[in-house]
Amino acid sequence: MRLSGVLVCVLLLLVEGSWGDTPANCTYEELLGTWVFQVSKGGQDKTIDCSTQATDKSTVTVTLEKLSVATDELGNTGFFTLIYNQGFEVVINGYKWFGFFKYSQEGSKVTSYCDQTLPGWVHDVLGNNWACFVGKKVTPVPPRKDYKPVLNSRLLQKPYKHNMDFIDSINSVQKLWKAVAYPEHETYTLQELHYRAGGPASRIPIRVRPMPIKAEVAKMAAGLPEHWDWRNVNGVNFLSPVRNQASCGSCYSFATMGMLEARVRILTNNSETPILSPQQVVSCSQYSQGCDGGFPYLIGKYAQDFGIVDESCFPYVGKESPCGLPQNCRRIYTADYYYIGGFYGGCSETAMMMDLVKNGPMGVALEVYPDFMHYKEGIYHHTGLGDSYNPFELTNHAVLLVGYGRCHMTGEKYWIVKNSWGANWGEDGFFRIRRGSDECAIESIAVAAKPIPKL
Ligand SMILES: *[C@@H]1O[C@H](CO)[C@@H](O)[C@H](O)[C@H]1NC(C)=O
Ligand SMILES: *[C@@H]1O[C@H](CO)[C@@H](O)[C@H](O)[C@H]1NC(C)=O
Repeated sequence: MRLSGVLVCVLLLLVEGSWGDTPANCTYEELLGTWVFQVSKGGQDKTIDCSTQATDKSTVTVTLEKLSVATDELGNTGFFTLIYNQGFEVVINGYKWFGFFKYSQEGSKVTSYCDQTLPGWVHDVLGNNWACFVGKKVTPVPPRKDYKPVLNSRLLQKPYKHNMDFIDSINSVQKLWKAVAYPEHETYTLQELHYRAGGPASRIPIRVRPMPIKAEVAKMAAGLPEHWDWRNVNGVNFLSPVRNQASCGSCYSFATMGMLEARVRILTNNSETPILSPQQVVSCSQYSQGCDGGFPYLIGKYAQDFGIVDESCFPYVGKESPCGLPQNCRRIYTADYYYIGGFYGGCSETAMMMDLVKNGPMGVALEVYPDFMHYKEGIYHHTGLGDSYNPFELTNHAVLLVGYGRCHMTGEKYWIVKNSWGANWGEDGFFRIRRGSDECAIESIAVAAKPIPKL
């Protein structure tokens, strides 16, 4: 069971060969304003199915104002954030509200209704007292039509074949990083490789500019170390092993599990070393789209609402499967999940460095261009080569930021990032990428969550 009837239709369309990335495409400006939430019968638990609840029991009116302030009709104030172009979350008066924007899809035509939500979920901040709601903005926003190209699915079923000229040209136009041909890639079709790089539902069409740094933030940042690497903090590694997502668009789940695993190790000085189940998110989360993709912010929320079991309880199979979680497995929850910088669009290089050193690894988005698939070592930057004959749309891959540094020789600043393409890819499963210039959107949207370790 997914989200709602609407998304089920979208998934069926996908199976028939029509590609959709995230169907709704709404902006921050469209979200701002006064919303009326129509609420179903309250007092239910987290097993509630919001696709079947009548939302006619009460209404709550909230106004969302720049940059992240929500107020209700009684004058209470709270917080809200946009979630990519997909939906929003409001926290006010002891309750959390989350809904996806409404949309419809017919073939390649998508209509976003950015003044309405699909049936969403509301519960108190302790995770009790669940209900469903539908949101509608008081001032209407005209429906917005987007055209999503339907990719040639026959072409995408072809096995991927290396293009050695492409790899040679990457290596001849620049010397900062080296490209190679990975034999594993030739075991995938073009479509499978596309899923590996993020999947159709992970795309972030609106690129967010990183925030300029405030003076007080810059002052705090002056005390940061020159170099940081969670694989080696005074000789101690706080990261869990690199994994391989295979051809399911589950990077968002691997990035979030990797973050929670590392942060538990940090919080417990490595006395707890859980390996969590990315498959649980793929199979069970209604806040994401299985192997079609999803977003780490919402997996931080999923972990808070439902908890994540260990890998051994629900092992990874790399495809969508029924949510048959054994009942007796222990679960790890999150105390908090947040955008670095405080809200969607608040991200910056400095804010990322500060949270990284203080709290641990975080999920970041990466625009995957064809040259990136061949990365072997060095400091990645997009060469622009191969973009035009690439049959894929640009995807957003979710990966885990674990460190930063600067080259002695060239002075080039870089991030250190953990990928989920196995330990044979890149620098033992990791890559370095240019820092400070929002290379491939790596500084545009960073997300973190705080796991609650065992006592
Ligand atoms: C989403 O909307 C923006 C305009 O706000 C547009 O520039 C962008 O192309 C749209 N993206 C998609 C995938 O339709
Ligand atoms: C953390 O564990 C290491 C051993 O790996 C130990 O040397 C160190 O003292 C511990 N730190 C704290 C604060 O307990």
